[in-house]
Formats: sequence, structure tokens, C-alpha cells
Amino acid sequence: MIAFDRYASPFIATERLTLEPRGALHAERLFASFSDPELYTFLPGDPPLSLEAMRERYQRLETRRSTDGKALWLNWAARQESGTYVGVVEATVHADASAHVAYFVFRPFQRQGFAAEVVEAVLAHLKNDVGVETARALLDTRNEASWRLLERLRFKRDRTIKNADHFKGSKSDEYEYVRDLRGAR
Ligand SMILES: CC(C)(COP(=O)(O)OP(=O)(O)OC[C@H]1O[C@@H](n2cnc3c(N)ncnc32)[C@H](O)[C@@H]1OP(=O)(O)O)[C@@H](O)C(=O)NCCC(=O)NCCS
Repeated sequence: MIAFDRYASPFIATERLTLEPRGALHAERLFASFSDPELYTFLPGDPPLSLEAMRERYQRLETRRSTDGKALWLNWAARQESGTYVGVVEATVHADASAHVAYFVFRPFQRQGFAAEVVEAVLAHLKNDVGVETARALLDTRNEASWRLLERLRFKRDRTIKNADHFKGSKSDEYEYVRDLRGAR
């Protein structure tokens, strides 16, 4: 594993997109897309309260480190050549060489393979440049788009966590998916 204090987040090129390390500048560019309530159906979060609140949060994320320094907080905004942003991808890297990934693709761009493309590119970066060995994802069991995406990306369902959370008036059971990044891709 790379020493966390030596990590610098790169731009990552995929077939159709550039993944830009997300920072305060992206708040303005992403605010309207993240204001879509449909994105949060199976997530405990809600659309941002204001552009200013979003900017402050993105500013804090620019350190790429958790406050206790024990994890890397990585996040990228995915931009088309035209300048349009299609979504974001996030990864929290832990000292035990595992990482949790999360992803959003804005509605006008869904079902075009963008999530698969950006998550696969971030997994390659985590494996080759950071030394991550195991990727994990936690998601609401009702989030079919998310678990189908993970299965397409060769993640395996590892466990079901009953009553993991409660939001938007109902309980949330969660799946944890895992992919071993060691060995052949
Ligand atoms: C989950 C999400 C990121 C998928 O993004 P996407 O770009 O549409 O996914 P892709 O086009 O790369 O799809 C890859 C595969 O996932 C599956 N999939 C994606 N969306 C699906 C849907 N709505 N229903 C069923 N399967 C779906 C399909 O198997 C698809 O492959 P196929 O199109 O060849 O059949 C997107 O729906 C999203 O942002 N949702 C809201 C935020 C969210 O819940 N994020 C997950 C947090 S854990």
C-alpha cells in the first residue's frame, strides 16, 4: 500500500470520460445535477441544501484524507469531452488495503454504461497505484440498478445486513458486495 501522506489524486482517462479529482470548483458545476431528488431514492442522503453548503463540503474533501488520517477519501467528477458532467465516483481507502466504492450517474446519462466505465477505471487505479486488494460496496437491497452494476463488474454478494439503516419512512436492509482485486483482471 502507498503511504497515505504521499498520495496525490490523478486525473484518470477512460474511453469516453475524464475523471477529475473533485474539489470546491466542482460544486457549481454539479449542483443542479445533484439537486435531482430521484438520485436519492435508496440513499439516506438528500439533495444539497445550498450551493454554499456543497462548496464547503467539497472544499473539505480536497484534503483527500479523513480527519483522523486513517483513510483516504477519494472522489472524482466524470466529464465528457463536451464539458458535460455525467456523474461522480468515490472511494474510501482503508489501511488494511481495502476500499469502499460509491457512484452516481445523473439521470439523463443512465443506462449508457457510464457507471461501469468509471468504476472499473477507479478500481484499476486503486489496485495499480494505491495497492488496494479488496473492493467493497454497501447498498440498499432495493437498489437494483446498483447491485446489477456490481454483479456486471464481477463483485460477489458477501452478506446481507438486516435493518442496517432507517430513512425516508422505511427500514433499509443492505447488501455488501466484494471484489478481490488481486491476481488476473
Ligand atoms: C446505480 C447507477 C450508478 C447505475 O449507473 P448507470 O450508468 O446507469 O449504469 P450502467 O449503464 O453502467 O449499467 C451497468 C449495468 O448495471 C445494470 N443496471 C444499471 N441501471 C439499471 C437499472 N435501472 N435497472 C436494472 N439494471 C440496471 C445493468 O446490468 C447494466 O448493464 P446493461 O445496461 O448492459 O444491462 C445509477 O442508477 C445511479 O446513479 N443511481 C442513483 C444513485 C445510487 O443509487 N448510487 C448507488 C449508491 S450505492
